[in-house]
Amino acid sequence: MIYFDNAASSWPKPAAVSAALGRHYADAVGNPGRAGHRASIAAARIVEHAREAVAGLFGVSDPGRVAFSHNATHALNLALGLLRPGDHVVTTSVEHNSVMRPLRHLESLGVAVTVAPCRPDGSLEVGDVRGAFRSNTRLLVTTHASNVTGALMPVEALGAAAREHGVLYLVDAAQTAGAVPIDVDAMGIDLLAFTGHKALLGPTGTGGLYVRESVTLAPLVRGGTGSESAHETQPEFMPDAYESGTLNVAGLAGLAAAIEFLSDAGIEAVRAHEQMLAARFIAAAGDIAGVTVYGPDASLRCGLVSFTVAGATASEVGLLLDESFGIMARAGLHCAPSAHRTIGTFPSGTVRFSFGWFNTLAEVDVSLEALRQIAAWAAAGAIASSVSGP
Ligand code: ALA
Repeated sequence: MIYFDNAASSWPKPAAVSAALGRHYADAVGNPGRAGHRASIAAARIVEHAREAVAGLFGVSDPGRVAFSHNATHALNLALGLLRPGDHVVTTSVEHNSVMRPLRHLESLGVAVTVAPCRPDGSLEVGDVRGAFRSNTRLLVTTHASNVTGALMPVEALGAAAREHGVLYLVDAAQTAGAVPIDVDAMGIDLLAFTGHKALLGPTGTGGLYVRESVTLAPLVRGGTGSESAHETQPEFMPDAYESGTLNVAGLAGLAAAIEFLSDAGIEAVRAHEQMLAARFIAAAGDIAGVTVYGPDASLRCGLVSFTVAGATASEVGLLLDESFGIMARAGLHCAPSAHRTIGTFPSGTVRFSFGWFNTLAEVDVSLEALRQIAAWAAAGAIASSVSGP
């Protein structure tokens, strides 16, 4: 079995993650910040340890500026809530629906939205974003890397452009947190949304938002925080303002263990490994008759690759990979229709291989053999009639 769907959720997780989850449920761990007894204190320590780990990874000097959420979508919705009717926001044509759906909703409420077009390989020119800024532009929001092409956005240059124009910059790091080095100050990022269960190698139900000191958001959810309990109004200080309700303490224990694992491996090493796997795949897949590979050079993308096979739909190829070759990949539109329009694969979509730290060159080679076989079946017209393969 080969798992190439790390962009959807990474697998396997480091053994230390399962161990942390097991310990969490074996030990007396209560509700963080809700009591003075040892189980509550143990929970608070787990949460703060995870917060420090996240802050360390992204170059955030004050861990209190990181609020935990259920996932990147939740964090993005929290951040996008700063837009008000009359504001203008600039984004790109390769965003995931976790950005586009909240933006289209905000547009219906009177927020003006400009979508800067990316090139057919998914790359973005900073000048196209600069040219879209207006006097009422409040926010620039871009992915760090497309979940369809893997193309890395020029985040540092975008951050500088945003700062020059007095525009806040929100980055969706769903595909890069844990796989590509991130430093919020060096990159000019004001808001960074991340998820724990992809390249960070942590459990599902974890994620969060870094919020620069100068930025205040309206909470998405209001409720108990364990702080200022005498008041019926929401605390205004971070992280409590954005963390109502009991946190996913078990998940955060696992996330801290995952970040420790990644820090030992080194994010640069993870980046180099995934880039090597993508480069090997791209070089060989491009030579298979009938296979089209999308996106830029491996050095300009995170470790994922989208492709199509002539004579077969993306879902047929995805099913054959799983059923006939034991290779798990994601096929279709990847919740990013605009990205597929950008690269010309809407509405049929692509098959996406997303590599992770635990994948090997040998697995890439096996997948290339499988792809050669599938392309040959497709060329012979043998797939449309039977999706389970000849
Ligand atoms: N956003 C995730 C993906 O690209 C789920 O597969």
